[in-house]
Amino acid sequence: MPIVHESEVIRPSSNGRIQPTLEVSNLSFAYPDGHQALHGVNFAIGAGEKVALVGPNGAGKSTLMLHLNGLLHGHGALAVAGLPIVKENLPLIRSKVGMVFQNPDDQLFSPTVFDDVAFGPLHMGYPEAEVRQRVTRALAQVDMAGFEERLSHHLSIGQKKRVAIATVLSMDPEILVLDEPSAGLDPRARRSLINLLRALPLTMLVSTHDMLLVQELFPRMIVMDEGQVVADGETAVLLQDVTFLEAHGLEMPVVGNR
Ligand SMILES: Nc1ncnc2c1ncn2[C@@H]1O[C@H](COP(=O)(O)OP(=O)(O)OP(=O)(O)O)[C@@H](O)[C@H]1O
Ligand SMILES: [Mg+2]
Repeated sequence: MPIVHESEVIRPSSNGRIQPTLEVSNLSFAYPDGHQALHGVNFAIGAGEKVALVGPNGAGKSTLMLHLNGLLHGHGALAVAGLPIVKENLPLIRSKVGMVFQNPDDQLFSPTVFDDVAFGPLHMGYPEAEVRQRVTRALAQVDMAGFEERLSHHLSIGQKKRVAIATVLSMDPEILVLDEPSAGLDPRARRSLINLLRALPLTMLVSTHDMLLVQELFPRMIVMDEGQVVADGETAVLLQDVTFLEAHGLEMPVVGNR
C-alpha cells in the first residue's frame, strides 16, 4: 500500500471554523439483521482531548467505534481531522486513527508478534530499519519487549490485548480509539497502561467498564445507553450523580474503605 498524500484526499469546503479532531453528527446504524444499534449519535472531540466512552453491555459503544475508521457505515456524518469518512479518505484516516478492537483475536492475524506489530508500518511504506525501531518501541510501551518471535495466537488474553495495543502504537497515530483496553489485564499491566495513556499526547476515545480508570484518566466522559448518547460532560460531575449512574447500569466501585 503506498504512502497516502494529504493533497489527494477529499476535504470539506472550509467555512472558517476550526474542525474538531473527531466529529460524529446524527449517526444512526442498523445491523443487517435489522437491529438498530445507534440512534442519532452526536459528539465532537477536540485535538488532545482524552474522553471515556461508557455505558452498559449492548449500549452501542463498539458499534460506534467501528464507524470511526470506516469499518461500519451508518447514516449521518463523520469526520476525522477534518476529513469526512468516505471511501476515498479511508487509507489516510486509517493511518491517523489507531483502533484497538474489543477482542484482540480480531486484531492479531500474523504468525508472530513481530509480524503483527510490524504490519502497519510495513504497509505504510517505511524502510526495514524504521519498521524494526517502531516495533521495538511499541512493544516496550506495552511491556512486551522480548516477545517478538512468540506466536500471537498462543499468548494469554492479557498479553494479546497488550500486543493489539502495540499494533496501533507502532503506526504513530494521531488519534487512539481503544475498545476496553484494560479488560483482562493484571493489575501491573493495567497500571502500566494507565501510565502510558496518560503520557501519550494524543486525542483518545476509550470505551471501558473500568470506572476507576475513567475517574483517574479522563476529564470528560460520554455515556451511551440503548444506542444513544445520554450524557456528555465532566467526569467529576457525572460520577457524583448516583441516580443517573444507576439508571444507566453504571456504578462507582467503593475503594479505600478502611
Ligand atoms: N453483528 C451484529 N449483528 C446484529 N446485532 C449486533 C451485532 N453486533 C452487535 N449487535 C447488537 O448491537 C447492540 C450494540 O452492541 P455493541 O457491541 O456496540 O455494544 P457495546 O456497548 O460495545 O457492549 P459491550 O459493553 O458488551 O462491549 C447490541 O444490542 C448487540 O447485540
Ligand atoms: Mg463493546
